[in-house]
This record gives sequence, structure tokens and C-alpha cells, in this order.
Amino acid sequence: LDDATADPFEVAAQAASDIARLTGVDHHDIALTLGSGWGKAAELIGETTATIPATEVTGFSKPALAGHVGSLRSVLTPTGRRVLVIGARTHYYEGHGVRRVVHSVRTAAATGATTMVLTNGAGGIKETWTPGTPVLISDHINLTADSPLEGATFIDLTDLYSSRLRDLARTVDPSLDEGVYCQFRGPHYETPAEVQMAKTIGGHIVGMSTALEAIAARQAGMEVLGFSLITNLAAGIQKTPLSHAEVIEAGQAAEPVISDLLARVIGQL
Ligand code: 6GU
Repeated sequence: LDDATADPFEVAAQAASDIARLTGVDHHDIALTLGSGWGKAAELIGETTATIPATEVTGFSKPALAGHVGSLRSVLTPTGRRVLVIGARTHYYEGHGVRRVVHSVRTAAATGATTMVLTNGAGGIKETWTPGTPVLISDHINLTADSPLEGATFIDLTDLYSSRLRDLARTVDPSLDEGVYCQFRGPHYETPAEVQMAKTIGGHIVGMSTALEAIAARQAGMEVLGFSLITNLAAGIQKTPLSHAEVIEAGQAAEPVISDLLARVIGQL
């Protein structure tokens, strides 16, 4: 993927064939990317029939955090659906380029998945959201100034975060709120002024992932569902300084509840 002359879709097709070989499953229906706080969901969705280290699949980068090897799992739901669970996300701020960021999404599409569920941990702009609140992503604002599309690929992003799937998620939890996700480059958190800008332009959630992945999923013809776990309020909205430890802690505390929500939503797909 670092070779500009390589076709990223061919790399994804190779990755999908690696997954088929290593998991023994040659077709997946749904793909799920686990963000911070969402990690326990995989166990609740169904039976994991294979877990493989991402490093054995073509095009997946070495993990950003030392000692944390990302993995891919094949999970069979009670209703017979095959879910590719992606526990290996490459963030834009790692600086490996947008092709690496969206490779897992393109790989998921190449395994046959037609639904892409993207989850993340993020900061909230709405004061009523307490840490641990899951929020449906209704739309996004991509503030990375980058795109996974190359050349003259003019694709429509209307209803990118499928209103059909959001309605379906609300049948599982009618109290689910929704909001517009702003993808910043990171890895620093925003300044209070940047958070005010995000609010002014129509944002409700700030984070460092998801938007670029959603664009790639749409390009691949997938239907997208997105969830943010509000781990903290964004800078200036929350009066105390932000800390990564606090973000991780809020994610861990919320994990049982949101994992159960996610598993029940996936059961409906
Ligand atoms: Cl406040 N900002 C961003 N960009 N990502 C976050 C966050 C804030 N809180 C958790 N993740």
C-alpha cells in the first residue's frame, strides 16, 4: 500500500483471500470495526470461529500501540450471519497515509460484506451527553482535508450513515440520540476554539477516525452504520483538562452496556 503504483483494491482482494484461508470462512455478510470502548461486543454477537492476528493479513500495518496486536475475528451470529470483527484500526494520525486507514474497510468489502458498522470513542459537544453515552452518527464533517478516493471519483455521500439502519438501531434502543461526527486529524485533542468551530459548523461529536472509513465503505457500495461512545465532553465544553487515561477509563466503564446494545443491533441486521 505504500507503493503508489499498487492498486489498493487488488491489495484488499489479496487480504480477503488471506482471511478466507486463515479463518476457513470465504464470505462475510457484515463487518464491524471496534473503536475504544466497544471491544467486548465481539463476544456477545455470536460464536467466534476464528481469531487471527492482523499482521498475518496483507496490507495491515503494525499496531500503533506497542504490545497491542490487532486481531480480526470471524463470528457466526445465532441467525446465521457471518460478521468480520475488525479489532485493528489504523488511524490517520499514524501518518501511514489514507490508503492504510481504509484498507480494513476495502478488505471487508472484498470478503463480501455489504454492511459496515463503524464504532469509535469520541468527545461530545452536547452538554447533556454524559461519559458512557452511545450516540448514533447521523452524518459527518471530514476535517482531515484528505480523501480515500483517488482521481476523478465523484461519489455521492447523501444518507452515508444509512437512515434505514439508524431506524433499525432505534428499534433496539429508542432512547439513542444521534449527532454529526467531525473527524479531526489528531492526535492532539482539539482546542476549545476548534470545538466551538465544530459546533458552529454543525458538529456534535469530535474524534479522530470513522469519516474517511465511511467514505471508502460507500465507494465500495456498502451500507454504513456508525456509533460513537461519548467518553468525555470536548475541550472547553468540559471544564477539566482532557486525559487519555480518562477516555480509556470511560470506555471500559461503558463497555458492558454498549457492547450489549451493539450485539442486539447486529442481531437485527
Ligand atoms: Cl475531545 N477529541 C477527539 N478528537 N477525539 C476524542 C476526544 C476528543 N475524546 C475522545 N476521543
